[in-house]
Amino acid sequence: MRKHVIAAIFCACSFSVLMAQTPIYLDDNQPIEARVKDALSRMTLEEKVALCHAQSKFSTPGVRRLGIPEIWMSDGPHGVRAEINWNDWGYANWTNDSITAFPALTCLAATWNPEMAAIYGKSVGEEARYRRKDILLGPGLNIYRTPLNGRNFEYMGEDPYLTSVMCVPYIQGVQKNGVAVCVKHYVLNNQEKWRGHIDVELSDRALYEIYLPAFKAAVQKGEAWSIMGSYNKVRGQHACHNALTLNKILKGDWGFDGVVVTDWGGCHDTYEAAMNGLDIEMGSYTNGLTSESKFTYDDYYLAKPYLRMLKEGKVPVSTVDDKASRILRLIFRTGMNRHKPYGSLTTEAHYQAAQEIGDEGIVLLKNAPVSKKTSPLLPISAEKINKILVVGDNATRMLNQGGGSSELKVKDMVSPLDGLRALYGNKIVYTKGYAAGRALYDHADKISQAVEDSLRMEAVRLAKDADLVILVGGLNKNHFQDCEGADRLSYGLPFGQNELIDALTAVNKNMVLVLLSGNAVEMPWVRKVPAIVQGWYLGSMGGKSIADILSGSVNPSGKLPFSFPVKLTDCGANAFDELCYPGDSIKEVYKEDILVGYRWYDTKKIPALFSFGHGLSYTTFAYGKPVVSSKKMEGNGTLTVTIPVKNTGSVAGKEVVQLYIGDEKCSVMRPVKELKAFSKIALQPGEEKQVSFTLSPDELKYYDDVKKDWVAEPGKFKVYIGSSSTDIRGTVEFELL
Ligand code: GLC
Repeated sequence: MRKHVIAAIFCACSFSVLMAQTPIYLDDNQPIEARVKDALSRMTLEEKVALCHAQSKFSTPGVRRLGIPEIWMSDGPHGVRAEINWNDWGYANWTNDSITAFPALTCLAATWNPEMAAIYGKSVGEEARYRRKDILLGPGLNIYRTPLNGRNFEYMGEDPYLTSVMCVPYIQGVQKNGVAVCVKHYVLNNQEKWRGHIDVELSDRALYEIYLPAFKAAVQKGEAWSIMGSYNKVRGQHACHNALTLNKILKGDWGFDGVVVTDWGGCHDTYEAAMNGLDIEMGSYTNGLTSESKFTYDDYYLAKPYLRMLKEGKVPVSTVDDKASRILRLIFRTGMNRHKPYGSLTTEAHYQAAQEIGDEGIVLLKNAPVSKKTSPLLPISAEKINKILVVGDNATRMLNQGGGSSELKVKDMVSPLDGLRALYGNKIVYTKGYAAGRALYDHADKISQAVEDSLRMEAVRLAKDADLVILVGGLNKNHFQDCEGADRLSYGLPFGQNELIDALTAVNKNMVLVLLSGNAVEMPWVRKVPAIVQGWYLGSMGGKSIADILSGSVNPSGKLPFSFPVKLTDCGANAFDELCYPGDSIKEVYKEDILVGYRWYDTKKIPALFSFGHGLSYTTFAYGKPVVSSKKMEGNGTLTVTIPVKNTGSVAGKEVVQLYIGDEKCSVMRPVKELKAFSKIALQPGEEKQVSFTLSPDELKYYDDVKKDWVAEPGKFKVYIGSSSTDIRGTVEFELL
């Protein structure tokens, strides 16, 4: 017996000794904050500073001495970018980094379906985890202010509420894989022209009501683990080290506990970076190994210069302790989180997700009969059609390439032509129709803008005896189009597509136009084209989604996340002067203020060609009268609005019921109406559902820039229930007491 007792005591002692030897920061069972504190206490000043800046193009050093791993980052919002060299922007040409290209986030927004955002985040997060990335540099949440912005395709449209609702499930889905999102570009990066330095001036109301809400939702509801500062300035200070947006709003008001990362090369000052909330400096202009370039990683603002300032007492050590703590917290949530899943790459599940998101995001803009005696061209009824002419560079173009940092190297890519051929076989004839040149980032001089007449003439020749013409056009990822680093040069379609559309419809009225883009375009030919489909950059399964929609095997249910103005100057940002957009090369003033997108068109009574929230179906929906649970809302109460919606057509379909709020008698200027709720419902033919929304004073508030707080003024409010922001099916009023 004695022996056993001694043995038991010995084991207990050795276990406790062993436990005593396992540092807290290495113990997964310890709370993260205890691990952060323990790790920080073991680090030298040099090790803390090293955490705060790049060691390569897409990584930062851990603390090798303590067994704390590096952080590896990768673009982008639509898929995990191919591996890039350690020290330059070249691709490493690995053979195992081909991935799934998911639809661009404009398409995700156009689904108006948070379930799609959840499956998107889960899937892209699994691919990032499998590729051993700790931070995925996305999603992009900048508001669509002008159709000329080259990067609108990466974002979620013109409305802060839609972007807020759609980004949260994406963020949660990614981070469940032990991969941090890096929400970008915080904040006011609403154009690419002069993005590196343009200094944005705007009212507090525009800042708080339009440009901040999505980032606030990402932080407070999505619990994003990192955020990327944008290149531009905000009210005179660079966004990557801005006291107002980072210290006061993000880390102060919103309580953000994650890491602020620069955009690449976005840091410009050591003292500001130390004091104004920047945590990690990443850069572009560094070749730290093969040559003594102007910058090496030790010369970064948050490297040796920062260490020197700390040692000279010019900035408090508390600044580097805070930065290092946040970075350690991210490492314990990602790389040192041993409970994270393994991830997966280019699986059937991911392809299914990409196709579903594309199916739900494609928007049917127009589907009119060619003449009074015929039915609409869509969906295509194959039995009646023998020859389909498919025209367009975008029918075969690899649109995953180009566009800047969000470009992707795919394992599979079903082009629109592939998708249509799989369905209609040899009924399909293809001709290019127009040429757009190679997808090139930042080499505009090499991209021909010439129009090739011979391509158009061949297309017209073939169109004459086709039963149906499908033109797959739009923009592409070339410089000066949907591409990072520059804005579009005009609002119209490039490469002679307008002339092509005119020539084709002159010989064949039965035209379906499929626009692949991330932006609105001018449509001078809109009356001539009976069917128009807004198909986004749809990624690996794009051709399947387009075939699903055109054939009717999937009933379109997408809704526009941004408006299509008739002409560019109808748009608020483009209705003023150069200072309003694109700025005077130093400064820019957002003169349209809070009236962005439909807020402008509604208030100024300028009809958009296609409205925010617009999207047709192959069936029809009837809305009943909206009913409120009470005509009065208490200051701290709620009320519900209920609407019966019925599928009055012959095929099943999904409808996005949208709720807007108007505050006509307010003491300050407010838009006619603002989106405050939506619900996507599926209905069988003849089926009716009651759709209910609960409203509280929160949905009625505006930002009072005198009180510096959100305010709901007592009085009458109007509820608009619509199938789009202009297709209003019913209104009802109530009073806030
Ligand atoms: C780029 C982009 C940013 C991207 C980063 C890394 O400049 O603005 O979105 O994540 O650099 O490629």
